[in-house]
Amino acid sequence: MRSEVPATLPLRDTPQVYGVVTRFLHWTVAGLVLWQLLGMGLRKIFGRQPFVDVVAGWHQAVGTVLFVLIVARIAWALSNLRNRPRHGRHFTGRAASLGHALLYAVMFSVAAVGLLRAYGNDRAFAPFGFTIFPAQDPPVAWMVQLGGLLHGELGWVLATLVLGHVVMVGVHESMWRDGTLARMAGRPGRPPARRSKAADAAPTR
Ligand code: HEM
Repeated sequence: MRSEVPATLPLRDTPQVYGVVTRFLHWTVAGLVLWQLLGMGLRKIFGRQPFVDVVAGWHQAVGTVLFVLIVARIAWALSNLRNRPRHGRHFTGRAASLGHALLYAVMFSVAAVGLLRAYGNDRAFAPFGFTIFPAQDPPVAWMVQLGGLLHGELGWVLATLVLGHVVMVGVHESMWRDGTLARMAGRPGRPPARRSKAADAAPTR
């Protein structure tokens, strides 16, 4: 289906566009996830340097905020499931649905496993200056081990999924020109971009 952005954005999603709440959650989570990956990428390359800590030093606080936003995002997506833009039942539509489900699952797991490790270890967890989880004595071994095993690896899996997501948006915009980006970013009242010949050949979403 071709996306046409209505004159005023609705609060909830519609079959044509994502609403204000979904857009806020999408772009805030996207920005903060990139912040997390940038910080950890810099730490991998340069180690623990003061300039790296400007970004990486916020990792636990930003991760905690992200966990709350991701839970809200999943709940909001589920409550809008019937009235948001559909991807279709053809191959690319199903691949898009699967890709998005994977993004949600991995985003949630990365943050959840990070917090589980913070809960189970022998240091108090106080990323905002007050204690959220007290130190465990003795530490909860399985929580710490699970975090050590999965958190970083899932973080890099998430980075790969985000890259694939961005590449696919690029394909929609440059080859199929079906207005997919406008559903999440289009300005209200803006006329849709001209449809290319390639879009007519591509599967509709
Ligand atoms: C969606 C949110 C998050 C993302 C995308 C993310 C991503 C990552 C990545 C990619 C790494 C690097 C792993 C490596 O060294 O290979 C990492 C490390 C780490 N993360 Fe997260 N993380 C998130 C949330 C959290 C949360 C909620 C916590 C804890 C409260 C946390 C605590 C840590 C810690 C302690 C490390 C080790 C950092 C260090 O070496 O200083 N993360 N994270």
